[in-house]
Amino acid sequence: MTGIKAAGLWKRSRIFSAVLVVIALTAGFLILGAAAEGSSTIPAPKQIMLSWTGDPTSTQTLTWNDNPDLTEVVEYIDKTDYTTAFSGALQAAAMSLQVSTTTTGYWRYEATVSGLSPSTVYYYRIGNSAGWSTAGTFTTAPPKSTENFLFSYFGDIQTTNETEMQAWGTLLQNAYSAYGQMAFGLQGGDIVESGLDLDGWQAFLNQATTVFSKIPFMSCNGNHESNFAGVGKPVSYLQMFALPTNGPDGFKEEFYSFNYGNCHYTVLNANVFSGEENLTDSDFTALADWIRNDLQSSRATWNIVMLHQPALPLAADSVCSAVKANWVPIFESTGVDLVIEGHQHVYSRSYPMYGGKIDYTNGITYLMGVSGSKFYSTADETYAAKTIYNTSNYEIFEVDGSHMYVSSYDKNGNLLDYNTLTAKAKSYSAVTGDVNNDGIVNMDDVNAVEQAIKNSADYSQVMDINSDGTVDIRDAQKILITYLALC
Ligand SMILES: [Fe+2]
Repeated sequence: MTGIKAAGLWKRSRIFSAVLVVIALTAGFLILGAAAEGSSTIPAPKQIMLSWTGDPTSTQTLTWNDNPDLTEVVEYIDKTDYTTAFSGALQAAAMSLQVSTTTTGYWRYEATVSGLSPSTVYYYRIGNSAGWSTAGTFTTAPPKSTENFLFSYFGDIQTTNETEMQAWGTLLQNAYSAYGQMAFGLQGGDIVESGLDLDGWQAFLNQATTVFSKIPFMSCNGNHESNFAGVGKPVSYLQMFALPTNGPDGFKEEFYSFNYGNCHYTVLNANVFSGEENLTDSDFTALADWIRNDLQSSRATWNIVMLHQPALPLAADSVCSAVKANWVPIFESTGVDLVIEGHQHVYSRSYPMYGGKIDYTNGITYLMGVSGSKFYSTADETYAAKTIYNTSNYEIFEVDGSHMYVSSYDKNGNLLDYNTLTAKAKSYSAVTGDVNNDGIVNMDDVNAVEQAIKNSADYSQVMDINSDGTVDIRDAQKILITYLALC
């Protein structure tokens, strides 16, 4: 949701030192010729969606729809300080929003709250003197640690009518009812049938907000979000969502990465290979360089890639072939563990694959989901450990240190598939002293070595920090020195 930016800075009450930055954006649907939302009074902000544009441990981004040209604020308070509904210490602060005009009347506003504490629940509400949203909550990420967490995945939605979107909403709400502790949801593109259709976006947002006003929604662009009118950017997609802007120049929010816990997520727009953006060879080189640098910079236990068109295609597709030829070698050389995909409308989990072959040591698991109700009835199952046809599904990933328990469920919560993944040993572990492979060097690593010595446990090679062929207290001391230097 890069674009019109502005507003002001607002020092929160005595309870907070946090700074709230509000950005108001128009979704710019004048280019779409879509029906206007209308100028009738909307009683409160709606279609609220959470996402991250910054560090999940200390920021929270919110987007919402409201009437044009409003002065809106987000009020938020640590749950432990919350007594009565946003009264007393919390007062709405007037803010000056810089906005542009639109002829259609559909507006999305964006705000990012920063300076938050990790692992903390906050109440929030959005609005102005004309009306407030219902109070909601968001929860910041834990500091990098070995804490377990869940995240979820929702593959292609791509509904063509309201009934289908309501069915997707039921699947979403069932998933959240069963796994309300999920930290956030990933979505792999093809959210709507046409990125040019405002009604489709509205239908999606009306369902999505029921869950994603509580947990962040992090998505990637699919081919159906694009501008079918011709060559260009997926404008409507970029206007609808607020995503990290750490991607390559010219491709902000289409390509981005973020960290949560001991996982690094790299999100790609595979649709650049479709030709719709009319890219040059140097563009593709720049994109490949960014992907390589991003993954090489990761110090996480898990490197997870999400993209729409699959890198391990299940049916002939020129975009998939380009992904496979250009990006899979990067994934394989940078320690990617898991690639989450969509586009071909089946559920498929591959064997671990490396160099075109099954490889249980170095392989990458490719997982395709489909949460909507459009299905393909055939797929190449050559490298599939599991394939399921004609079934809407969602995935739950339980991250437990270097293990990840991956479950796929149908819309009613029936288990479809289950698998345990183990993170690859990363080359940086031995260098940094991150012996427990959680992405950070701290006292947990020192303690892990001390416990291994004390218990005469089988020593992991990565514990031999000084490379003298034995694991002893000198290795623990060396990790401690590294940790203290980082403090
Ligand atoms: Fe697709």
